[in-house]
Amino acid sequence: MTNMSKSHFSKDFLWGGALSACQAEGAYDVDGKSLTIPEVMKFNEKNDRKVTKQIRVNWEMIEEARNDPNAANYPKRRGIDFYHRFREDIALFAEMGFKVFRYSIAWARVFPGGDDATPNEKALQFYDQVIDECLKYGMEPLITISHFDTPIVLMDKFGGWYNRKLVDLYVKYCEVLFNRYKGKVKYWVTFNEINMSVKASAKTLGIIDYDAPNYEEMLFQGLHHQFVAASRATRLAHEIDPSNKIGSMVAYFTTYPYTCKPEDALQMQQDDQMKNQFYLDVLNKGEYPYYSKTYFKNKGIHLHIEDGDLEGIRSHTADFVGMSYYNSMISSSDTEQLELTAGNVHSVYKNPHLPANEWGWQIDPIGLRYTLNLVYDRYQKPVFILENSSGFYDTLNEDGTVNDPYRIDFLSKHIEQMGLAIADGVEVLGYTMWGPIDMISSGTSEMSKRYGFIYVDQDDYGKGTLKRIRKDSFYWYQNVIRTNGAEL
Ligand code: BG6
Repeated sequence: MTNMSKSHFSKDFLWGGALSACQAEGAYDVDGKSLTIPEVMKFNEKNDRKVTKQIRVNWEMIEEARNDPNAANYPKRRGIDFYHRFREDIALFAEMGFKVFRYSIAWARVFPGGDDATPNEKALQFYDQVIDECLKYGMEPLITISHFDTPIVLMDKFGGWYNRKLVDLYVKYCEVLFNRYKGKVKYWVTFNEINMSVKASAKTLGIIDYDAPNYEEMLFQGLHHQFVAASRATRLAHEIDPSNKIGSMVAYFTTYPYTCKPEDALQMQQDDQMKNQFYLDVLNKGEYPYYSKTYFKNKGIHLHIEDGDLEGIRSHTADFVGMSYYNSMISSSDTEQLELTAGNVHSVYKNPHLPANEWGWQIDPIGLRYTLNLVYDRYQKPVFILENSSGFYDTLNEDGTVNDPYRIDFLSKHIEQMGLAIADGVEVLGYTMWGPIDMISSGTSEMSKRYGFIYVDQDDYGKGTLKRIRKDSFYWYQNVIRTNGAEL
């Protein structure tokens, strides 16, 4: 345990954790819900850990999944049954002292037909209960409106986000949520990790025309529609309740130059621009940055931008910068002799100075302090760390305990660096570590890649009692929150 001489965290710092509906909820066909992209992704035990390969969901896979009666083949259809166990799970979060719980709402529950005239009341009643349960314990519910779970019906009927029609449908969905949860939910995130869209276009944009000659243009067009949707949602949220706080969010791919060669530094700058800053610039500065226009020009990408789009984006920017932080990467102008390793959503070049977890994701706590300074300096808006952690294998001991010093080590080092960033002067609103309870991995659909303070008795094939068990890290995080970060 590290004792920091004093806590750098303000007394209202929001400590907590984050889950997504599509990895935790299960109950994939209950109460009228329709199918989403993650629910057609199978668990693949032959997964190569050395590189990250995005599963390219195509129509064949979707059709096969639709006709496959065996839900057990698709882990995200069962999740960890949060749908029926949320009370127990939220009680455990409360026991750790969570001040905030980040959770996503499944669009495919609320509007199962995509363009239904009215929302599905049963779905809303479920989310009413989740939100009320948080409030019962004095926990802020922080809601992600769309987290990697594009409803397939929106692809069937409209072709996903490439079609501008999705802007209206999304805004309608947002309107339902903002009105229903007025006075209950204050913090919202429009799109989870919006910069993942170009790498994981099925679950983010619902665009799977990989062989189309203008595929990349389609992605950026879909993204433009999401930017417009985010600006309209932000405007609406502020009109409905001026105290609403709307977050932009990226998975920050922090990058360093491989050497001090100017060419490597330039490559780093370009990588940072198009992998991270582009998205945050549009959502926070309210305009397409010059380098993105050059990128589009060089690639022959032409976006269809309607009158009023740019004005809306300029006038309704986000209130805070949300980011997830998992692993950093390196940039080099000469990558021939570099080795690849896996990382979040895409492979990255190995940094010889960093260790990695068993999935190859490099561990870099100092990168978190660096990134917080970078982001705060650029946008001058409060930052919210919406995800941070690492997957580990855990062992359930015969006496029912789980000893996970590796998790404590990872998190304490990252939280320490977050504290140092605050001491540097960065305004950090809160920290929702990723996966306070074990759930299905987004990338690999496995259960054995565990993130939680709470162990869930379920294996990769869905076998187990689903019993919830407190790991050692549960008590550690409880103490971190109790001491407001003074004891790590
Ligand atoms: C983030 C996602 O990118 O990474 C989460 O927002 C995801 O949904 C997390 O679970 C970790 O990735 P994985 O593949 O280890 O689950």
